[in-house]
Amino acid sequence: MNFAVMASGNGTNLQAIIKALKSKQIKASLKVVFSDKAGAFALERARKAGVPVAHLDPGQYPSREAFDQAVLDLLKKEGIDFVVLAGYMRILSPLFIEAYRNKIMNIHPSLLPAFKGAHAIKEAYDFGVKVTGVTVHLVDEDVDHGPIIAQAAVEVNPNDTFDMLTEKVHAAEHQLYPYAISLFIRGRVKVSGRKVIV
Ligand code: GRF
Repeated sequence: MNFAVMASGNGTNLQAIIKALKSKQIKASLKVVFSDKAGAFALERARKAGVPVAHLDPGQYPSREAFDQAVLDLLKKEGIDFVVLAGYMRILSPLFIEAYRNKIMNIHPSLLPAFKGAHAIKEAYDFGVKVTGVTVHLVDEDVDHGPIIAQAAVEVNPNDTFDMLTEKVHAAEHQLYPYAISLFIRGRVKVSGRKVIV
């Protein structure tokens, strides 16, 4: 199976995926790492690992759909079977989601449906939760919403600073994402309504 990782930022989840490819925990071919940001450190990590990279600038396209169509064209050309979002900071258009229905995964740094959005760890920390965590889910038309593949809990200790919690959440992500991707590759992710039967 061929897959693409789409990332906009640091790429620590990408790094964990590359590690899992090397150790054969993930048995698939990472064909391309795509970014909407030319300077994304994720692209640097990909290059270092010898993974092909691609970048398109959303500013050069008249609409979200036009941009997503260009990304789709690129993915189709690479023969991509499924897509892994790893800190990709753009909302995908319905056009994109339909083209890869139930074949797009995302990771989110909270136990969904709690704390959706871009500041999940901070909001969970400020809210004073005792347990938070990470979620890998399939992507549908609503943000941070699609059927859940896997979750892992992270305890918040009374003396955890925000930075300490952030570190723990990221460490949990780096464990959970390769596991969820390997489930998907092994055909273990079957969708029935909102439920994923693993
Ligand atoms: C992660 O916390 C992920 O859950 C969220 O964006 C962040 C990306 O981090 N969707 P990185 O670029 O993989 O380091």
